Amino acid sequence: MDTTTPLLALDDVTVAVDDITVCHNITLTVNHGENHVLIGANGSGKSSLLNAVMGTGPFRVTGGRILLNGQDITELPVDERARAGLGLAVQHPPKLHGITVEKLAQAIHAGDRLPSAAESLDLSQFLDRDVHCGFSGGEMRRFEMLKLHLQRPTMCLLDEPESGVDLEHVSVVGRALADLLQTPCPDGSARSALVVTHTGFILDHLDSPIAHLMSDGRLTDSGDARDMLARVRTDGWAA
Ligand SMILES: Nc1ncnc2c1ncn2[C@@H]1O[C@H](COP(=O)(O)OP(=O)(O)O)[C@@H](O)[C@H]1O
Ligand SMILES: [Mg+2]
Repeated sequence: MDTTTPLLALDDVTVAVDDITVCHNITLTVNHGENHVLIGANGSGKSSLLNAVMGTGPFRVTGGRILLNGQDITELPVDERARAGLGLAVQHPPKLHGITVEKLAQAIHAGDRLPSAAESLDLSQFLDRDVHCGFSGGEMRRFEMLKLHLQRPTMCLLDEPESGVDLEHVSVVGRALADLLQTPCPDGSARSALVVTHTGFILDHLDSPIAHLMSDGRLTDSGDARDMLARVRTDGWAA
C-alpha cells in the first residue's frame, strides 16, 4: 500500500439533490491515519457530503472528483465503494425488515467478529432483531458503529455518531471508534475517519483531529478541532 497517496481526496466536489446544489466546490484531503471532523449548523450540507462520498442517494456529484487511494470512485456504485474500503455510519438509517443483525454480519463475512463487537457496544441482545426495526435513536447509532466494526472500512465516515446516545453509552461509542481506528488494515496501513459531530464529544476519542467548518454548503475554515470547537462554543457558527 502506497500511504503517500491520500486515502480520501475530494477535488472540487459539488453535490446536488433534486437539482438543488447543497455542497459547493468541496476540496478536502484525508491522509492515511488522519482523523477529521466536519462541523457546521443544521442544514449546512454535512450529511449530503458524506452520503455523496459513499454514493448513497438521492445525492449526486455534479462536479469534481472523489478519489479513494488514488482511484476515481466518483461514478462507482455504493457496493464497489464499500469493497474499495469506504464505510458510512449513516444519520438516518433505513429499516431492514427480514434481515437480522446476525444475517447481515454473515452476509458480509463478519459472523466471527459479531459476538465480541456486539458485546463491546452493549448490543448482544440484538443479534436476532431485524436491523434498525424498533431501535431507539441511541440503539441505531450503536448499531451503525457495530456495522463499521463488522465491515472494517479503511476510510470510516460517521454522521453524528453521538446524537441521541444516552450518557451511559456515549463513551462506549467513542471507545468503539477508537478501537476500530487503532486496528490496522490487513495490509498494515492505518485507518482514517471523517466524522460529523455536533457535540464534539467524539474529539476525546480521536488522535489529533482536524476540523472543517461547513457553512451553506461550503467549507469555510479548517484547523485544530479542539480550538475550532472552543471558538464555536463561545462565538457561535459565525466565528
Ligand atoms: N433527501 C433530500 N431531499 C431534498 N433536500 C435535501 C435532502 N437531504 C438534504 N436536503 C437538503 O440539503 C441541505 C443540506 O442538508 P444536510 O446535508 O442534511 O445538512 P446537515 O447534515 O449539515 O444538517 C438542506 O437544505 C436540506 O434540506
Ligand atoms: Mg446531517
